[in-house]
Amino acid sequence: MQISPSILAADFANLEQELRRVSNADWAHVDVMDAHFVPNLTLGLPVVEALLRVSPIPLDAHLMIEDPDRWAPLYAEAGCQSVTFHIEAARHPRRLARTLRAAGARACMALKPETSFTPYEPLLADLDMVLVMTVEPGFGGQSFMVDQMPKVRQVREAIKRHGGEIWVQVDGGVSATTIEQCAEAGADVFVAGSAVYGAEDAAAAIEELRALVSTHVH
Ligand code: DX5
Ligand code: ZN
Repeated sequence: MQISPSILAADFANLEQELRRVSNADWAHVDVMDAHFVPNLTLGLPVVEALLRVSPIPLDAHLMIEDPDRWAPLYAEAGCQSVTFHIEAARHPRRLARTLRAAGARACMALKPETSFTPYEPLLADLDMVLVMTVEPGFGGQSFMVDQMPKVRQVREAIKRHGGEIWVQVDGGVSATTIEQCAEAGADVFVAGSAVYGAEDAAAAIEELRALVSTHVH
């Protein structure tokens, strides 16, 4: 069970300090948005390279961008240990996943709330993680979509059939009140933005989330 705080909810003027606040987490989740794939713009490769130089924990890059076939490998080459592309934007997802792995990153496929997992199940052989979005990507602080839990279950079942160590990540509206349903459905990597950075003590918020799911095993 791993916690990946999203720095989207952090103070962008003090990112090094903000990464240190969550150094007890497993990953730091970095939301890259290009104002095309999603209607919001955050940061790109130069900032991610700077974050990699100072982060005490590995970076989990979530690319909400067009043309990930072209751009995602650069994040892996830069040193992000997990790179997530959206299946809705990828042209050659299998080739892209293999390229990410060859560059030393864990390869992850993300699904927007309206995207079905079924047609993409055959990609599991080339993936290390599947991200089931529990909000419409683009903004932090939105409400958790409980209607995505059947998809989390479906992905976990498919992974059990397939075998191998493939993680299931949830992202969006994950908090102390929603995290247990995610774990129950089969998630094992939990992204939390406002629930962590909105807390006075971010490290304590991470431990609280971890404790809530620590008894679940998949
Ligand atoms: C949304 C991003 C999320 C976001 C989560 O598009 O992918 O990572 O930061 O924020 P919260 O936890 O506040 O919903
Ligand atoms: Zn994200």
